[in-house]
Amino acid sequence: MKTFLIAAAVTASVAFAGAAQASEALAKEKGCMGCHDIDKKKMGPSFKDISAKYKGKADAEATLTAKVAEGKGHPKVKANADETKTLVKWILAM
Ligand code: HEC
Repeated sequence: MKTFLIAAAVTASVAFAGAAQASEALAKEKGCMGCHDIDKKKMGPSFKDISAKYKGKADAEATLTAKVAEGKGHPKVKANADETKTLVKWILAM
C-alpha cells in the first residue's frame, strides 16, 4: 500500500512537470519567449512578474487571455485563444 502511494505521488509530480514543460515548449513555439522570459525582463515583463502582479485577481485568466489573444494593448501573437489560455494558466501558476 505504501509503495502504491509513493508510486502514485511520483506519477502525479511527473505528470505535472510534463504539463509545465509542454507549456514552455508552446511558449517557445509561439514566439512568446522572444519578448518574455520566465524570470528576466526582456522587451516584455518576466512571466513571474506578470504572475505576481495578477495573483489573487479572480478575473486574471480571462483578462490576460483576452488581452494577449486579441492584441488589446499587447503585440499580436501567433497563438490562438485556446493556446493563449493554456499559456496564461501556465504563467499565472508561477
Ligand atoms: C513582440 C513582443 C512580444 C511577444 C511576441 C509577446 N509579448 Fe507578451 N508582452 C509584451 C510586452 C511589451 C508586454 C508589456 C505590455 C503589456 O502589458 O501589454 C507584454 C505583456 C504580456 C502579459 C501581461 C499583460 C498585462 O496586462 O500585464 C502577458 C500575460 C503576456 N505578455 C503574454 C504573452 C504570451 C502568452 C505570448 C506568446 C503567445 C506573448 N506574450 C508574446 C511583448 C510581447
